[in-house]
Amino acid sequence: MLAKEVRQRYIDFFVNKHGHKQIAGASLIPENDPTVLFTTAGMHPLVPYLLGEKHPAGKRLVNHQKCVRTDDIDEVGDICHLTFFEMLGNWSLGDYFKKEAIEMSFDFLTCPADKGGLGLDSANLCVSCFEGDKDAPKDDEAAAVWESLGFKRHTKGKPLNGGQIWFYAKKDNWWGPAGQTGPCGPDTEMFYDTGKPKCPLCDTKGPSCECRKYIEIWNDVFMQYNKNDDGSFSPLKQQNVDTGLGLERVVALLQGVKSPFETELFKDAIDKIYELAGIKGTDETAISVRIIADHLRAAVFILGDKFGVAPSNTDQGYILRRLIRRAIRHGKKLGIAYNFTDRIALIYIDFYKDVYPELEEFHEKIITELQNEEEKFMKTLIHGEKEFEKMLPNLLKNKEKILPGRLAFKLFDTYGFPIEMTEELAKENGLKTDKQGYIDAYKKHQELSRCGAEQKFAGGLADHSEATTKLHTATHLLHKALIMVLGDHVAQKGSNITVDRLRFDFSHPDKMTDEQLKKVENIVNEQIKRALEIKCEEMTVSEAKEKGAIGLFESKYGDRVKVYTVGDFSMEICGGPHVQNTSELKSFKILKEQSSSSGIRRIKAVIG
Ligand code: GLY
Repeated sequence: MLAKEVRQRYIDFFVNKHGHKQIAGASLIPENDPTVLFTTAGMHPLVPYLLGEKHPAGKRLVNHQKCVRTDDIDEVGDICHLTFFEMLGNWSLGDYFKKEAIEMSFDFLTCPADKGGLGLDSANLCVSCFEGDKDAPKDDEAAAVWESLGFKRHTKGKPLNGGQIWFYAKKDNWWGPAGQTGPCGPDTEMFYDTGKPKCPLCDTKGPSCECRKYIEIWNDVFMQYNKNDDGSFSPLKQQNVDTGLGLERVVALLQGVKSPFETELFKDAIDKIYELAGIKGTDETAISVRIIADHLRAAVFILGDKFGVAPSNTDQGYILRRLIRRAIRHGKKLGIAYNFTDRIALIYIDFYKDVYPELEEFHEKIITELQNEEEKFMKTLIHGEKEFEKMLPNLLKNKEKILPGRLAFKLFDTYGFPIEMTEELAKENGLKTDKQGYIDAYKKHQELSRCGAEQKFAGGLADHSEATTKLHTATHLLHKALIMVLGDHVAQKGSNITVDRLRFDFSHPDKMTDEQLKKVENIVNEQIKRALEIKCEEMTVSEAKEKGAIGLFESKYGDRVKVYTVGDFSMEICGGPHVQNTSELKSFKILKEQSSSSGIRRIKAVIG
């Protein structure tokens, strides 16, 4: 049975046989919920209705929902974890409860395929119920329903077998709330025997044993409690049912394959990855292939969403960036030279566009953003990996085998390596990453660039990386040196800094002579050698003027401004950020002096 049949069967079963209304799936980026980054379950957009608000489509609902879960991104690569997945769900909003919900689930799973079900063998099913604690009693009610369907309670010490009911604590048999507070409750979970031999722990642990002899396929949650701000639970106005069936898992099960990656959902993408890499599958390459296939599918859905985001360094954009960059790194590991993320994306867009037409609608955006991110990251990835390889022998020499936080931060700041990717890279090379050290370095950097938040130079700083921060300080030195060599008429007319160079426009009527350029360069290099400290002070514009600060004195700086002093050499109004000491610049070289426009000259220069 193909995924599209399972999806349709599920909807038809609940609509035609049990009077549910199909509702549209919600956007993957939550519309009104800043507490979570992505929609993680079908119930998520339904929270107000679970709390008692009337749903326009009635009390029985069904849909398929795009979900992203980010807790397990680093686990992806094995055969079962997925970042993006589809959840099939049915809901009762204060209508039916445990008995009907369980009977419907059982019916759909075991009813023969020609009668609209999945035709699974009930002898291979095991279920679990909540064992009870201080917040809610043992769920004998749910267990009794399973007993009426032929299941037997498992007794401690007896072996695990199909057809059993196991009881677990909250960690395993309670679901929700989706955020910090909200609807939640005990659940009953359905597991299916994969046919794998038992591991030594199976008889004690039951169907939730981590060896995954049994895989969880469906979860019926009895949402009858609300988790409050203080962590306590109170009964909800109405008793709801929320269920979630993982489409990819159940499709793999029905097709008799070991993982979703072997189903049609991934097949074309995975074939393409192997084709681009020009290799055949081995256990080792399969991990990278699964990472690429999973991450790019998730990226396509995150980009191709109504509220789709672009890669960035915060929130959803950061998750997206992590996914794309990790996929690119693994692509490179497989030997795929460049430009492949868009090609894999096209396969997914084509495969999913009938069910999720938004992918077609945002086709352009998905492809362009992937191409941009790939182009951007490929430039720094190679340099970053080289840098890492240079560090490696020394790091391996030390006993602790730790990649220090400041180096992890350098890889992030200079080469755009998300910390999680650095951790993975370090692990592959037998190193642990000092994540706390990374966080500290990051915070220190934030502190340094705090002043930069108000940066308002037209065409000024686009980012606050270490490289651009140094160039920014170099710009101040250059500005002052130009005034010294050419005269007081020199004023800043523009500044543009990239990670590679600075570009400074200033008022001056003539082309500069070689001698003047040499003088300016020497003055700047002298200040670098003097290892001058840089200080930041806040004062009013008039105070700054009185003290002789240079810079743009326009009102856009507001009343109070930041003034950066470089030792005894320069004082300039500026938003920052800057390095702490000029020695960090190492050296300064002018590459070019040219005309920018009438009366304005332009200098391009580099450091280090
Ligand atoms: N909301 C039920 C589940 O995610 O399993």
